[in-house]
Amino acid sequence: MSTSQDKIKELIDKRIEARLGGGEKAIEKQHARGKYTARERIAQLLDEGSFEELDMFVTHRCTNFGQDKKHILGDGVVTGFGTIEGRLVYVFAQDFTVFGGSLSETMAQKICKVMDLGMKMGAPVIGLNDSGGARIQEGINALAGYAEIFERNILASGVVPQISAILGPCAGGAVYSPALTDFIIMAKGISYMFLTGPTVVKTVTGEDVTQEQLGGASVHSSKSGVTHFAAENGEEALFLIRKLISYIPQNNLEETPLVACDDPIDRLADNLNEIIPESAKQSYDMYDVISSVVDNGEFLEVHKDWAKNIIIGFARFNGQSVGIVANQPKVLAGVLDSNASRKAARFVRFCDAFNIPLVTLVDVPGFLPGTGQEYNGVITHGAKLLYAFGEATVPKVTVTLRKSYGGAHIVMSCKQLRGDINYAWPTAEIAVMGAEGAVGVLYAKEMKAAADPAAVKKEKEDEYRKLFANPYQAAKYGYIDDVIEPRNTRFRIIRALQMLATKKLSNPAKKHGNIPL
Ligand code: HXC
Repeated sequence: MSTSQDKIKELIDKRIEARLGGGEKAIEKQHARGKYTARERIAQLLDEGSFEELDMFVTHRCTNFGQDKKHILGDGVVTGFGTIEGRLVYVFAQDFTVFGGSLSETMAQKICKVMDLGMKMGAPVIGLNDSGGARIQEGINALAGYAEIFERNILASGVVPQISAILGPCAGGAVYSPALTDFIIMAKGISYMFLTGPTVVKTVTGEDVTQEQLGGASVHSSKSGVTHFAAENGEEALFLIRKLISYIPQNNLEETPLVACDDPIDRLADNLNEIIPESAKQSYDMYDVISSVVDNGEFLEVHKDWAKNIIIGFARFNGQSVGIVANQPKVLAGVLDSNASRKAARFVRFCDAFNIPLVTLVDVPGFLPGTGQEYNGVITHGAKLLYAFGEATVPKVTVTLRKSYGGAHIVMSCKQLRGDINYAWPTAEIAVMGAEGAVGVLYAKEMKAAADPAAVKKEKEDEYRKLFANPYQAAKYGYIDDVIEPRNTRFRIIRALQMLATKKLSNPAKKHGNIPL
C-alpha cells in the first residue's frame, strides 16, 4: 500500500511531466522556431509568481488513429488565472509542443472553463494562440469545441475585455475566436492568420503566395486591419497586452483605472498656438497635438499602420484613461474613408462598452469622393462611425482644430450626436463644405457670364470664408460650447472630463440595435 509520501511524490512527478508538455525535443523545436512555450509565455505575461494553473491533468479522449496510445497531460493548452499589475486576469495559452497545439474536445473544455470564470468574476480573458487548428483525429468534436469557444467569445463581448495574441499559426476557422475578441496582437516573423493556406490558394486561384504574404503580422496590421498591433516579437506582444490592460477596466460595470498623474493639469502647450499652418492646404502632424495634451505625452496607438488618415488609441488625462479619435491631416488630408470609418467605429464601440470617455480631435475636410470608395460601400462604412458616436453614452469631449465640413463634421462626434462638450480652436472652420466647392455650386452661372470669372471666384470665395471659415457661426447657435486658446487645450479637456465624471445617460430599451455592419 502506498504511503501518503508516495502519493505526494506521484503528484509531484505528474506535475513535472505535465510541465514538460510535448517533451524536451518538442520544446527544443519550439525554441528553434524562435518561439517560447506556453508556460514560458504565461510567465512573461503575468506578474511574477501569480499564475495558478487549472486542469493540468486533463487528457484527450480520442481513440481514432492511434490517439489512445498518445496522452499528454494538459493536452495542448495551459489555462488558469493570475494578475497583471495586481489585477486578476484569466489566460489560456495553446501549447504547440503538444499535437501542434491543435484543438481537441477536451482542450476546448479547458478554454471554456477559464472563459466562464472570467465572465463570473468579471475579469479580462487573454488567449495566446499557437495552433495547427482543429485536431484532425477528433473530427466533428474538434469543430464543436471551436463553436463552444466562439459562442462564449460572443456572449463575453462587451462584458469583459478579451485580448488575443497570435504567436504562431492560426488558420482555418480557428481565426474566428481572435476575430471575435476586442484586440488582436500579432508577433512579426512567427505568426500568421488566414482562412486557407498557400497550398489551397494555389489550387483554387492559381496565386503563388507565401504564408507571410498571405497572413503575416505586417499584412494584417497594414492591409487588412485584422490585427490591431504588430509586435516585433513574441515578448513585445505580451508586453503590449500588459500595457493595454493598464488602460481598460476589468468589466463593463467598472470605471476605468485611475493612475497617479505627475503632469500638471494646467500645463500650457505653447506649440499648439502655432501649429495650424497659414495655408488651409498645408498639413501638420496630429501626433504633435496628441502628445502635447495627454499626460506625459504617452499614447498607446491602436491600428497604427492601417487607415492612417485617422488615429485611434488610449491615453490619460489627469490619470484617467480615455479613448482618442483624431483625424490625421498629414495622411490624405485627414479625410474619412471606408477603412478609417471602420477602424474608428469599432474603437468607439469598445470604449463605450467599457466606460472609457472619448476625446475627439477634429480636422476633417469631408469623406473621400470617387467610385473607389462608393463601390466599396463608404456609405455603409461611414454610417458605422456615425452610429457608434451617436450610440455612445460615455463622456464625449470634442475639440475642432481646423476643418470640419459636411457629413464628416456630423460624424466626428458633433453636438447633435450627444457630444457633451464641444470646443473649437479659433482656427476652426465649421461649414457645409469648403469655399471652393461652395462657390462652384452657388455662383456657377455668374462665373460663366462674367468677363473675369477668376475675379468673381476669388471675391465670392473670400466672402464665403469670412462668413463660414471660423468657429463663431457654430458657437452662435451653441453647437460649439466655447472657443478655446489652443495652448490651453489640455486643461480645458481635463476640466470637461472632471465635470462629466458622473454622467448618466442610457439608450432606449431594445434587444439590440442594428448597426450597419
Ligand atoms: C493534429 C496536428 C495538427 C492538427 C499539427 N499537428 N497540426 N495534429 N491536428 N490540426 C501535429 C503534427 O502532426 C506534428 O505532430 C506536430 O503537430 C507539429 O506539427 P509540424 O507539422 O511538425 O509543425 P510545422 O512544420 O511547424 O507546421 C505547422 C503547421 C502544420 C503549418 C500548423 O502542422 C499544419 O499544416 N498543420 C495542419 C493545419 C491544418 O490544416 N489544420 C486543420 C485546419 S481546419 P508530430 O507528432 O509529428 O510532432 C480547421 C478547422 C477549424 O482548423 C474550424 C473551426 C471552426
